[in-house]
Parts: sequence; C-alpha cells; structure tokens
Amino acid sequence: MVDLGAVLISQQPAFCPHFRWGYKERLFRASGRRMRLLHVLAFVLLIGIAVCKNESKNKLVVVTVASNATDGYLRFLRSANLYGYSVEVLGMGQPWLGGDVKRYAGGGYKINLLKKYMENHKDDSKTIYLFTDSYDVIFTASAKTLVKKYLEMKARVVFTAERFCWPDSSLSNSYPPVMGSSKYLNSGGFIGTGQSIYEMLTVRDIADTDDDQLYYTQLYLDPDMRNDLGIKLDYENQIFQALFGSEADVKIRAREDEVKEFYLFNAEHNTEPCVLHGNGLAKDTLNSMANYLAGSRTKTDCLICSENNFKIADLPTPPTLQLGIFIERPTPFLPEFFARILAQDYPKEHIHLFIHNREAYHKQHVADFLEHTSSYASITVKGHDSAISEAEARSLGISECLSHACDYYLSVDSEATLTQPMAITLLMELNRTLLAPMMVRPGKMWSNFWGALSDEGFYSRSEDYGEILDNSKRGIWNVPYVSTIYMIRSDVLKSGQVPSFEVQGIADLDVVWAKSLRDKGTFMYVSNVHHYGHLVNPDSYDTSLIRPEYYQLADNRLEWEYRYIHEDFEAMKDPDTVIQQPCPDVYWFPLVTPAFCNDTIAIMEHFGQWSNGANNDKRLPGGYENVPTRDIHMKQVGLERQWMLFLKDYIRLIQEKVFTGYFHNPPVSLMNFVVRYRPDEQPALRPHHDASTYTINIALNNPHVDYEGGGCRFVRQNCSITNTRAGWTLMHPGRLTHFHEGLPVTSGTRYIMISFVDP
Ligand SMILES: *[C@@H]1O[C@H](CO)[C@@H](O)[C@H](O)[C@H]1NC(C)=O
Ligand SMILES: *[C@@H]1O[C@H](CO)[C@@H](O)[C@H](O)[C@H]1NC(C)=O
Ligand SMILES: *[C@@H]1O[C@H](CO)[C@@H](O)[C@H](O)[C@H]1NC(C)=O
Ligand SMILES: *[C@@H]1O[C@H](CO)[C@@H](O)[C@H](O)[C@H]1NC(C)=O
Repeated sequence: MVDLGAVLISQQPAFCPHFRWGYKERLFRASGRRMRLLHVLAFVLLIGIAVCKNESKNKLVVVTVASNATDGYLRFLRSANLYGYSVEVLGMGQPWLGGDVKRYAGGGYKINLLKKYMENHKDDSKTIYLFTDSYDVIFTASAKTLVKKYLEMKARVVFTAERFCWPDSSLSNSYPPVMGSSKYLNSGGFIGTGQSIYEMLTVRDIADTDDDQLYYTQLYLDPDMRNDLGIKLDYENQIFQALFGSEADVKIRAREDEVKEFYLFNAEHNTEPCVLHGNGLAKDTLNSMANYLAGSRTKTDCLICSENNFKIADLPTPPTLQLGIFIERPTPFLPEFFARILAQDYPKEHIHLFIHNREAYHKQHVADFLEHTSSYASITVKGHDSAISEAEARSLGISECLSHACDYYLSVDSEATLTQPMAITLLMELNRTLLAPMMVRPGKMWSNFWGALSDEGFYSRSEDYGEILDNSKRGIWNVPYVSTIYMIRSDVLKSGQVPSFEVQGIADLDVVWAKSLRDKGTFMYVSNVHHYGHLVNPDSYDTSLIRPEYYQLADNRLEWEYRYIHEDFEAMKDPDTVIQQPCPDVYWFPLVTPAFCNDTIAIMEHFGQWSNGANNDKRLPGGYENVPTRDIHMKQVGLERQWMLFLKDYIRLIQEKVFTGYFHNPPVSLMNFVVRYRPDEQPALRPHHDASTYTINIALNNPHVDYEGGGCRFVRQNCSITNTRAGWTLMHPGRLTHFHEGLPVTSGTRYIMISFVDP
C-alpha cells in the first residue's frame, strides 16, 4: 500500500509557493530565458516547500478507478504530476466489472472499489479526497488552488454540476431550482474529507453493474440526506467543469504574462475550473482542448512535443519496423513515391515490407520497385490478382507486423509521399502510440487529419485547423481522425487498443476505423513538428491516357515540377543568373526534363494525327496557314489549358527578366504545337516571321543522337543555332526583328515544341 500521508500538498500559508517549480522552470526555458538564477530559485523553493509542508493542515489525495493505462489515463497522470496532485489508482490491471461504460465511465463497480479503499480512511476528517474519472479528465490548475476553493465552498462533499439530468431525466423536476445552466449532479468528479465520503458511500449497497451516478443523485435529491451528508453541487464551476453541453461556455485563454500559458476559463461564471471532464459526448472536445491545457503548449511553443522522446542512436539496435504500403486506387507519380520509400534513411534490414496493390495499372511500378528491395528484412506482396479487399489487406499489414515482432507499424497509402528521408526516425523518436505525420495537398485545405467532428461524425473544421496546416502552429495534436499515413507503436497493437479492420468491410473504411479508435480511447495524434512530405491528389488522374502524369500540372504541381521541370530552371529565375544569348536577342535556357520531352513525343505520336503540311488548316480560326508545318496542337491532345498555366507560371518569369519592361500577365497563346521534321516528310521551314510578340521553341530531342541537320537560322542576324539540347528552349521576338527559318533535317526525326506568345 502506498502511504497516503507521504506527499501532498495543501492549504499552505500564503507565502508558501506551491511546488510546481519544475514546470515553471520548463516554461521559462521554453520562452528562451535560461537562467542560472532559476537553479538558485528552485533550491530556495525546495526549502520553502519543506518548511511549508510541516505547516500543512489539509492533505489532498486524488483517487481514480482505471483498469487500463490508456492514453487518456497517461494524460491524466501527466496533468496530475504537473500540478502537484498525488494520485491513488484503484482497479488497474483488473478486469472491469462495471458494465457498459460507453457513455459514462461509470458503474457501481467504482463505488464498491472506492468504498473498500475508504474503509481505511473512514475516520479521517483532515485529508481531503478528490474522486475523479481519469480517461477523460485533466487537471487544469494546481492542487493548492483546488483545495483553497474547496475550503471556501464550506461543504462536506462537493460534486460536479452538469447540464444533463442523467441517467434518469425524469428526476430533473426534483432538483432544487438554481441560476445557471449546470443544475444536475455528475459523479465523474467529487471532493470531500475521508469521513464524509465514507459516510456517503455506505448509505446503501450497490451492485457493480448499477449506475453510480444514480446512487449519488438519489442521495442528493433526498433533502434530509443532502443536508446530513453536506453535499453541494459546484454550480459555478469553481472546481469541476463537465464539458458536455457546456462547450460554448468553456474557453481556453492564454495568460498575458511572459510565458503565455493556457488556462481554462468558464465564461458563464467567470471562473477558472481546476478539473476538466470530457463527459458524455465531449471526449473529442476535451482532446482538442488538452492540446493546449496543462502545460501542453504556450502561445509560441509546443512543450509536450519534447516529452517522452528518445533517440534511436541511444538504443542498442534500431527498432524493427513493419512498413505497410497500400495502393488502393490509381495514384499519380507512383515511381517517385517508391523512390522516396527507398530513400528513407533507416536501416533496411530492420524494415519488413508489406505491399498491397489493388490496381493492375500499377503492376509494373511495383515490379520496378521490387528490383531494389533485396536488402529489406522481408517482403510480402499482395497484387491486384490476389483479390483481397482493402480491409483484408490492412488487417494483414498489422498481422505481418505482429508476426515479425515489430516495434512499430508504419502504414502508408500511395497518396502520401515522404519527401523527408528521416521521416521514419523522426516519427519513432516522438514516441506516441498512434502518430500521423501531417500531410497536406500543397496549397489546399486538404490533409490527412480532421481537427474536429461534425455531429454526424464527419469532417468539421476546427478553429486551429488552418494554423496547423500552414505550420503557423507546430506541435503534436490529438485529433479525432487520421488517415493515409500513420505510425503505430506495437504495444498498443498487442494490447488490443487498435481495432482490426476486418469487422468493417464497408465504404469509408477510414472513417469507421477512426471511430473505433475513438471508441477504444486510443488517441490519434498528428505531428507537424517536422515536415514529412505531402499528399498527391489522385482525383483527376486518368490512366486511360498514354502518359497520365503529364496532365497533372494543375492538380499535382510539386510532383509535376519534380518530374518535368529542369533542375537548373530555378536558377534561371534568379536576377543574377545571366541567360545565354546564342544569337542577338535570342535567349536559350534549360526548362524541362528529358522525361518531359519523352512524354510529349509519346503523347503526340500516340495521337498520330499530324497535319498534312498544306496551307489550308481547319484547326485555325482563319482556316489558313501561310507557313505550314507538320504538327499537332496541344489543344488536340487536351493540353491547351495546362499549357496556358505553364506559360504563366514558368515562361513569363523568364520573359519579364530578359525582355525588360514587357509585362503581359497572363501570357496568351493561340498556337501551341509540336512540330515534326524529317527528310521524307517536311525536313525544313522557309524563312518567316512568327505571329507572336515572342516565341518559345523547346527542343524535344537531340542532334547527332536522334537526327542529323536541323536547327534554327535567324536571317537578319546571320546567326544559326544547330547544337540545340533536349529540354532547353529558345525564346526570341516573333514579328519584325527575327525573321528565321528551320534548317533541313537530313536524317532521323526532329521534334520541337512551339508557342506563339501574345499574338
Ligand atoms: C483493458 O485491458 C484488457 C486486458 O488487460 C482488455 O481486455 C480490455 O479490452 C481493455 N480495455 C480497453 C478499454 O482498452
Ligand atoms: C515512450 O513513451 C512511453 C509512454 O507512452 C514511455 O513509457 C516510454 O518509456 C517511452 N519510451 C522511450 C524509449 O523513452
Ligand atoms: C523515354 O520513354 C521510353 C519508353 O517510351 C523509356 O524507355 C525511356 O527510358 C524514357 N526516357 C526518359 C529520359 O524518360
Ligand atoms: C554571315 O556569317 C558568316 C559566318 O558565320 C560569314 O561568313 C558571312 O560573311 C556572314 N554574312 C553576312 C552577310 O554578314
């Protein structure tokens, strides 16, 4: 047995500082003020506490019933430690005998455990006992403050007051009338001396499965009993705050001091409650408030982020990871996704791989990836022909983890691309039971978590959602839903706190799964402490196209740039980079990658309807082309709009740099096309002006490799460019000054892509 007299804080003389100095010190450090002085202060405080303790009159003991050390329980203990409470836990590790606890973590079982415990303290009229639930409770003020408030209330026993009359609403008429909105007894939190609590518990017997709240309610509603036992309800939320139904009155505020710590505020009564209870359906609201309260963060810093962390380098061997990869729908840029998996800076011999690919389209991508996976500890692949459902696959991933005695399970869907090579390590080191790295569709409000739930249990925008998404608030956030990518510690897998996917097998698997996690009380955290990667958007991905990624500039710009924009292009935008001029006023710079050139050619050749080179051209508004080429317009292959975006977001930047003083945003171009030159078709083009303010001319393949001859000659300037490079573009004035011709291709095929900008 624990010696109850041992610790404990209490009603101390006013000069006695309460012993949260460790916490304050941490806050000061977080606010950037590291002071030697603090150590001296801490020492003085310690002495102060030692002195004060001797003068204590009323000790406070917190008693709670908890059968499992859930995340909620650990959060409760953390807040208790932080604010100087001493906690006695009843029933830990024992089977729960209190019946269905869905709505209230209740049951006569709690009363019976408490009664047994209080037998040893039935004559104690000095020690104050605070009885509270724990899974959905946090302390929000110090033990000293709480005791002071209790003594001021001049009651023997004080119960939480709540908004709803439960479990028997017909009793509501029997309650005494009061001002304020919380009129009814809630048994999730009460406080009194040992003697008075024991007296209350022994009025009559209760079965383990009976409702404890009803038991206390009946005592309270009997006026004689209420009087004898000295029971009051905390109508003004001096001590207890039951959240359900009062969400609108309960605020989180930051103190206006240097530390900017958050505290709980009840706006109905202008009080600062000490115990916050997410009773009823308020669990998710409590979870989001707890992201701020109990020293979890200050206005500027996440304090909880550095708690419980470890360094993998300090471990004897790296933890074993089961990595589950799920391709459940056609996903753009899958080769890049796999490349980033391979680039994860974590020893592959400690990673077991499980892959589920439901899409025949991605079969080759998976096969290409498997060429590089020999150093992983093991690999299991379920391809599209294995015909297992998404739910089965996800359950299988978890079973694989357990059968490999994994320490962590990382589930990654193909939309979640991990650009951070240290992601695995960084996630593990944060040491949370279930942690999702925050991933966002770049520039969109779409992410892999929800900040809040609607009444129907679907997405709802939380107040802080936007700030978390744009990283103006960083931290580890307890949220009601995560998906797409998350890491689970294997101890929670083993303890059954993570539901299986098997039972679902219906639409919206992710939503159902997140709900069952909430029901089990397993916290879902999302971290934006680091940047881990982003979500690709599969919505407009059309695998019936020959090179579908090529069409993804608008919807997946980051991936598109990574695959298609030349790595040296970024530097071209720099005002200090001089752009080459192989001929006067003809600029030449790297723009797109070989993959771009390759895909452009493939798309055009697949389409195949090259113009016949005649002057009459139905594709043109006037129906006539003075200087015809063999070509295909971007419009004909569904790329006109994307090409306008390309001109605006890439070409314009260089144009404004080289043709100083010419602004035209967005650039307009009616003629965007790929030209094919070859000896047996059209080898060259006679001298002409372009119908443009300026023209871009991108080489799509290389001389001496793909063809001989070719190039562009500017007649007035008497200057030719024949050493063109695939992916580099020429940019030159169109009409008037740059009369030019296409030089003959003597063998092979030459492809160029042309835009007449601002005709
Ligand atoms: C608590 O743990 C027991 C096993 O110790 C388990 O059977 C039970 O489901 C757990 N309850 C919760 C709420 O996780
Ligand atoms: C990880 O966190 C748990 C609490 O959730 C703690 O008990 C454990 O010691 C931590 N692990 C390490 C390696 O620090
Ligand atoms: C071009 O495409 C072909 C397949 O059509 C492929 O074999 C080749 O590797 C690609 N080259 C580049 C640079 O993407
Ligand atoms: C054009 O340039 C070539 C050399 O590049 C030179 O031989 C020739 O004389 C030039 N012609 C004119 C008209 O300047």
